[in-house]
Amino acid sequence: MKLDAAEAEEYGPFGAPLFDGPEARALRRVGVIDVGSNSVRLVVFDGAARSPAYFFNEKILCGLGAGLAETGRLNPDGRERAMVALRRFAILARGMEVNSLTAVATAAVREASDGPAFEAEVEAATGLKLWVIDGTEEARLSAQGVLLGWPEAQGLMCDIGGSSMELAVLPGGGQVGATVSGKLGPLKLQNVKGKGARRAEIDAGVKAMAEVLGQDRSDKLFLVGGSWRAIARVDMHRRGYPLHVLHEYTMTPKDLRATFDLIEASDMETLRQETRTSSARMSLVPLAAEVLSRVVKTFRPKEIAISSYGIREGLLYERMPDVLRARDPLIESCRASEAASARLPGFGRILYKFISPLFSRASERRQRLIRACCLLHDVSWRAHPDYRAEICFDNATRANLGGLTHSERVFLGLALLHRYRNKREGTPFEALAPLLNEADTQEAEVVGKAMRFGAMFSAQDPELMGRLKLYPKRGELELALPKGDGEALYGEVAEARFRSLAASLGCAPKVRIGRA
Ligand code: LMR
Ligand code: MG
Repeated sequence: MKLDAAEAEEYGPFGAPLFDGPEARALRRVGVIDVGSNSVRLVVFDGAARSPAYFFNEKILCGLGAGLAETGRLNPDGRERAMVALRRFAILARGMEVNSLTAVATAAVREASDGPAFEAEVEAATGLKLWVIDGTEEARLSAQGVLLGWPEAQGLMCDIGGSSMELAVLPGGGQVGATVSGKLGPLKLQNVKGKGARRAEIDAGVKAMAEVLGQDRSDKLFLVGGSWRAIARVDMHRRGYPLHVLHEYTMTPKDLRATFDLIEASDMETLRQETRTSSARMSLVPLAAEVLSRVVKTFRPKEIAISSYGIREGLLYERMPDVLRARDPLIESCRASEAASARLPGFGRILYKFISPLFSRASERRQRLIRACCLLHDVSWRAHPDYRAEICFDNATRANLGGLTHSERVFLGLALLHRYRNKREGTPFEALAPLLNEADTQEAEVVGKAMRFGAMFSAQDPELMGRLKLYPKRGELELALPKGDGEALYGEVAEARFRSLAASLGCAPKVRIGRA
């Protein structure tokens, strides 16, 4: 789409809105290239607009910022590798018929004396216009990325790159507050000789950033950037954490202290292999750990969470209309999944309505998770029946999804597992069981069995499904079935499933024919 001058002015440097209208739910393939000081990456988003899927994602650790502090110039080898990567990305994006391609460059390109020459070279070779953004814009966009996954995020966002670190206050309500950028990237710190001098530089750097923010406390810290993610992988390894999903992985300051100690005491090559980290990344981990240690000491968060969403996702969120931002990222992606893969898209909503009387006292947060379960209850129907339960579980727990905690992932997976199976012994749930408490495990079983029962009525007029009613005091689960077809649908398998559901609620099953 070609913009006239007035439109270009209105939309700013990142171009026109990505969404055809506020009602647009699906995204037209959108590409973002992030030319960072460490890595150069192409991401192409597709799918549900509120919760985009990673249609394509490739990263090359070029190290554009390596040596920059000494020479004032881009790393010559990095510059060559970045050019090769960008040429490749531009061709790939064309082949994928990417609708909009935005390329941003951060600390290394903005600081290097040959940054402008690099920009010109990129444009000449690929046609890509690099938007070289300043540190506060970088902070703001990374914070927007955090909001894509946690629209209500409250706390402090901290993004580490190769040559800079950004902080942004997240005051809640979907807003980004004060931002600041500092020169604490690990590639930069590599040039500071001596442990003491490095420490002094980190301390002074973090202190100065806290002063700019006018804040030296934050209950929750959201971490963005490859080097923080590598530290989180070490933390998972140290704890023997069973779910290898970094997004929404949480740590306490105590966890991190133990991990920093481990990093200091370990042979880096062994740790690198154990955590499956590249050597280029691992060489930065000890320096990044020193910075994070200072950040945690300064802001004293109670909880530290990894956000896989950062500047690239922020560029997307930036251009979302408010109506779309207001939608739930989890529900939107489950809807997209249902539309793409379920036999009867739309039945998930009916099923939710059918089973919801069992969960009338659940929190709103829990009800939305149960709704997500229903939307996904049939997306694995193509799998072989012997494996469906396991496949459902793995899909849900490992999905590239935002808007749910790790224990909610396991809840979702377990409910879907019980949608196909009564027993969970001997299934992949066992390894992840420590992430879900007893009561939630029980509730996920009830959700699964309720879906297993409700699915018996699929493809039917919701009226024929009858109505569930729970009488906890009487210890009864009642099914009111309409006479005629409704009654006829309630075959012996349905009956067995109804009994199993009642049993998992600790209730006696009661069937009543005729409307409630
Ligand atoms: C960078 O500066 O490249 C970062 O944004 C991401 C990374 O890979 O450390
Ligand atoms: Mg970056």
